Amino acid sequence: MALKGNLFWICSLAVLSSSAAQDETLPKNCSSQTQLLERLSADVKVALECGENLPSAQQSAALLLSLRNLADSLHKQQLKDCQSAEPKKCPEAEVPSNGGLLCVSVANNTYCKPLCNYGYDFGFIRSSRLFDVCTEQTGYKWSTQYIGGNKLAVCNKAPIRIGGAKSAYFPEDQDCLTTKSTSELHSSIITTFISELKKEGIEAELQDVCLLCG
Ligand SMILES: *[C@@H]1O[C@H](CO)[C@@H](O)[C@H](O)[C@H]1NC(C)=O
Ligand SMILES: *[C@@H]1O[C@H](CO)[C@@H](O)[C@H](O)[C@H]1NC(C)=O
Repeated sequence: MALKGNLFWICSLAVLSSSAAQDETLPKNCSSQTQLLERLSADVKVALECGENLPSAQQSAALLLSLRNLADSLHKQQLKDCQSAEPKKCPEAEVPSNGGLLCVSVANNTYCKPLCNYGYDFGFIRSSRLFDVCTEQTGYKWSTQYIGGNKLAVCNKAPIRIGGAKSAYFPEDQDCLTTKSTSELHSSIITTFISELKKEGIEAELQDVCLLCG
């Protein structure tokens, strides 16, 4: 109990002192949002280390609400990360929830590979279908198992993975966002995708591939 109490105070002080230090430098506008988000990210890590020793129920609820709104907003922004690599003639493909979508456009054609997070599986068998295509041959429409739309795949909660090829799943503890935020993991799945495209005679550049998380 005493230990827990002490931990609470150490953590509270850590959070308080870091936010006090910030108050002087806190931007009143969004022009230095990168720094703001870096500090916020660091503070949230400290708060996470404090675990259950968070302040009052009301403060917790307020924090939860802010974090939820921020998460929603960051998630929406993240879904626009591929605009530089966005398809020229094809409609944008839907990013599956509980997974991600790797896309690349080569000339006017677009290729996207859906991936599922660990613990999720594809709704349809697609083990020999590593990626979906939208080309001149398909009339610049997605040739998808979900007829006539821009939905390429869904990731359903499932204890075993049977629907997709081995490379179409994020490993345990390396879900889409973890992968996207870790440069080695990020380049590793992109390199795999590029070699899979190459086997089909499609030459894509590393820097043109973009990962979106659903
Ligand atoms: C916004 O913040 C930046 C950097 O802190 C500062 O240079 C700029 O003058 C601020 N703009 C306004 C309108 O306050
Ligand atoms: C892409 O589409 C544009 C506009 O229709 C066309 O001018 C161009 O030749 C196409 N590029 C290729 C590589 O097919």
